[in-house]
Amino acid sequence: MAETRRGRVLMVPAPFQGHLPSMMNLASCLSSQGFSITIVRTKFNFKDISANFPNFKFFTIDDGLSESDVKSLGLLDFVLELNSVCEPLLKEFLTNHDDVVDFIIYDEFVYFPRCVAEDLNLPKMVFSPSSAATSISRCVLIENQANGLLPPQDARSQLEETVPEFHPFRFKDLPFTAYGSMERLMILYKNVSNRSTSSGIIHNSSNCLENSFITTAQENFGVPVYPVGPLHMTNSATSCPSLFDEERNCLEWLEKQETNSVIYISMGSLAMTQEIEAVEMAMGFVQSNQPFLWVIRPGSITGQESLDFLPEQFKQTVTDGRGFVVKWAPQKEVLKHRAVGGFWNHGGWNSCLESISSGVAMICRPYSGDQRVNTRLMSHVWQTAFEIEGELERGAVEVAVRKLIVDQEGEEMRVRATILKEEVEASVTTEGSSHSSLNDLVQAIMMQID
Ligand code: UDX
Repeated sequence: MAETRRGRVLMVPAPFQGHLPSMMNLASCLSSQGFSITIVRTKFNFKDISANFPNFKFFTIDDGLSESDVKSLGLLDFVLELNSVCEPLLKEFLTNHDDVVDFIIYDEFVYFPRCVAEDLNLPKMVFSPSSAATSISRCVLIENQANGLLPPQDARSQLEETVPEFHPFRFKDLPFTAYGSMERLMILYKNVSNRSTSSGIIHNSSNCLENSFITTAQENFGVPVYPVGPLHMTNSATSCPSLFDEERNCLEWLEKQETNSVIYISMGSLAMTQEIEAVEMAMGFVQSNQPFLWVIRPGSITGQESLDFLPEQFKQTVTDGRGFVVKWAPQKEVLKHRAVGGFWNHGGWNSCLESISSGVAMICRPYSGDQRVNTRLMSHVWQTAFEIEGELERGAVEVAVRKLIVDQEGEEMRVRATILKEEVEASVTTEGSSHSSLNDLVQAIMMQID
């Protein structure tokens, strides 16, 4: 801990599992650099994490929103609503409270602090928990939509084409949403991408992962970009507890499995799986003959509250001990376990970073938004993953699992993942690029405060 306090930074994380921990890691980094920290959270999706951060101040916005609003509005409209509800409440808090706030950092999806900061003449920065390629892809989507250049959603061959000047992304890799209409998505993305009055953009990414996209993001937005991640590695102080309860007994099960033999399956905190897909996945895992650890979040299979619908043969395989199913896993520890040979995921950026920092290769099946972009990045830039596309069928699932865990192709991906892991590890050392970006960020905040 630095001896003198350098000013108070107010930080506003988005209330989702894929967003909160990385912002808290950034807060810990800034705290250890001498800044005082106030965290503003929403009452929506609240879990008290303050005991893990005794030096921070916490304030909760009474937004009056609940999970039933997400269900009735849909996630996309819910996020728009959350932003409009919270803006006046944050302004009231900042106008009436005693501590002087010197600087604001807010998650890109909760952009409501932007106008408040402008009204109160406070300097601000945007935090993106996702890739720089994603930041660019949203602008590409907005531009193509405005110019009428997007192929219709059913024009399959056109969707396969590469987006001009955005190699290697195809139209179908752009961050379309599964949570609402294109019209509402454009409203959201325009707000998320409004960064020109910000003093900078902080990305949970690293130059060693996406150097050229970071440079392009800097040029496109016209403000400095600070790639300080992966933040779960940059921050060595306390980390943020998960919003869901972890089932740690899966680590004991992993202990009994052979090295590099297990396929770990998790689709993050928001993605949904169709019932028919879940059945095909289940049978594909059975047929692969590989041990599997599958996270099935409650409510994540469309139309199903329990797992009774899964085939008897699958249930028997779990009973026999070759498979293990949990509601939520200690993912970072799972990925570090020697038994895990591959990770089937949805292309969530945190999952990608955690996989890479553990040297684990992946199968990706993106569900929505940035997951499409990240999947293409991993499969065609890093080449540590392959995508499983189209209708899911058990035979294809079986082949994919064996390709990743057993075949030479998977082994080659694991080698590349290990090389990338070493590069990422080097980037967070005191000589590394992420560490140096963090120092630049600290200096930039200091300049704004002085
Ligand atoms: C979403 C987007 O997909 C992601 O790209 C964006 O950056 C943030 O919002 P999410 O879909 O939840 O996030 O996926 P992901 O980014 O992978 O984050 C999931 C987090 O939950 C990871 O940190 C992962 O370690 C954690 N997790 C997941 C667990 O701890 N246990 C589990 O069982 C599953």
